[in-house]
Formats: sequence, structure tokens, C-alpha cells
Amino acid sequence: MKRRNFINFLFGGGLVGTFLTFLYPVIRYIIPPKQSQVGVSQVTAAKVGELAPNSSKIFKFGNSPGILINTKNGEIIAFSAVCTHLTCTVIYEEDTESILCPCHNGRFDLGGNVISGPPPSPLEAYNVEILGDEIVVSIGV
Ligand code: FES
Repeated sequence: MKRRNFINFLFGGGLVGTFLTFLYPVIRYIIPPKQSQVGVSQVTAAKVGELAPNSSKIFKFGNSPGILINTKNGEIIAFSAVCTHLTCTVIYEEDTESILCPCHNGRFDLGGNVISGPPPSPLEAYNVEILGDEIVVSIGV
């Protein structure tokens, strides 16, 4: 192989490598990974009275985070806290009364529906029951 061909080969390989390095995160952004299943079906998320109105709490639901929200109206709702885009953990934003994913500014309403941003689907809603002095969250049917 001539020296000129060898240098062209190295330069071309570097360009292809650089292109693939930029392409991979773009593809992961467009096609999010599948979420793993939660290993439990019911957990105690909080004690009754633990959450003030218009506040939230992140709790463990198996190996995934869940978010428990006490709305301004005093309704207690729960969702998977795993964003449906690239699996970041969402937070409750008190001033806008919505659920925000800080990674790429994905936003969900209090029904778990996507309002804006890149998430492709709503948050998974959980059932909430008050059992004695505990708030119990379970997977919906
Ligand atoms: S991970 Fe991208 S918006 Fe949530």
C-alpha cells in the first residue's frame, strides 16, 4: 500500500468513527430504550398526612421510582416517576402544578399525559388506596 493510500485510509476511518460517535446518541434520543418491569405490585408510599397539599414525594416501587402527589385540591395521585422518553426521574413542579422531566424539559399534566417535550407516551398511572394510616400504591389494571 502506498503511503498516500494509507493516510487516506486512516483519515477516512477517522471520519467514519466520528460520524458514528455523533449518530449513536441521536438514534438513542429518537428511539428510547424499553423500560424494565417493576418487581412488585403494591407498596406503602407514605403515611396519611405526610404530604401537604400541592406537594409530592418520590418513593421506591420495586426497582423503579414512583411519584406520589397530593394536589392542591387534596387528591392523592401516583405515577411511575420514570420518564417515558429516556428514563430520567420526573419531579412535581408546585408552581405550574405539573410533572416535569428535567432532562429534556418533558412535561406531563396531573393525569400523566404528555403536555410538551419529547416523551412519546404518558406516565404509567398507579392506583392509590388509603389503608388505615398508610397510603398504598399499586399497579393499575
Ligand atoms: S428523559 Fe427526556 S424528557 Fe424525560
